[in-house]
Amino acid sequence: MEVIDGNQIAAALVAELKAEVSAIRGRKPCITLVRVGEDPASVSYVKKKGRTAAEIGIESRVLLPPVGIAQAELEALVDGLNRDPGVDGILVQSPLPDHLDEAAVFARISPEKDVDGFHPYNLGKVVQGDEAGFAPCTPAGIMELLARSSVELEGRHVVVLGRSLIVGRPVALLALQRRAGANATVTVCHSKTVDLPSIARQADVLIAAIGRAEFVTADMVKPGAVVIDVGINRVSDPSRKAGYRLVGDVHFESVAPLVSKITPVPGGVGPMTVAMLMKNTVKAFRRRGGC
Ligand code: GUN
Repeated sequence: MEVIDGNQIAAALVAELKAEVSAIRGRKPCITLVRVGEDPASVSYVKKKGRTAAEIGIESRVLLPPVGIAQAELEALVDGLNRDPGVDGILVQSPLPDHLDEAAVFARISPEKDVDGFHPYNLGKVVQGDEAGFAPCTPAGIMELLARSSVELEGRHVVVLGRSLIVGRPVALLALQRRAGANATVTVCHSKTVDLPSIARQADVLIAAIGRAEFVTADMVKPGAVVIDVGINRVSDPSRKAGYRLVGDVHFESVAPLVSKITPVPGGVGPMTVAMLMKNTVKAFRRRGGC
């Protein structure tokens, strides 16, 4: 059994991007991160995105509009970023406070600056298998992690647990694409699936993205399978200083001994998401005419 080291693979990608960005003369790529409210996970993600950008040489700007900002004002803020020639990528951190319509905000971002890949245009590009668009970062990160871990998908059965717009659905579409590194046979399971464990057990590659702590247990996994754990769940743990620890959607201790490869939480898919955001930002910069 091999534990796939997402930190190491993401670090390699970040080093490649750093070399690429350091060769750019003149203006560097720029990402603007918009965070509304003080959701602790969002605070930590935005910080991490800013730090990784700095490491690569990508400029990052953070905007913190007031938590009570109205929909129209937030959309006007996005319009301003769309028009700003110095901004290559725009990311509005999810989740937004309840009074805001997140889908409408994502749709307001110019598709050429939508480095998160959540705009309907870019999701459409994923459906079409057209790599000119921006694929969402977590699904793209999973594909990169599999490729860099020498996991062959062609003809194999990928079972995705979860149908979210951010992970489950797009990763299913990416694995299905007609191209080297994809060409999988894909099944998507969700909360209404009948006998999910029997389908999960058929997976050569099992991608768990349901957002339920340690949901996947040993009886749901075929011996020798590859398991990708996308979950990041906080469970209370009074023995930790923070009062909680992070666990995935997979019960690691019982599943790991069975599999050929598995990603840990933390240190698996998570670091890849940030690395792919940076890759999309450099791609946006180049597509907008940066050199
Ligand atoms: N919240 C959790 N993950 C993400 C992400 O990849 N992008 C955005 N915008 N918000 C998130």
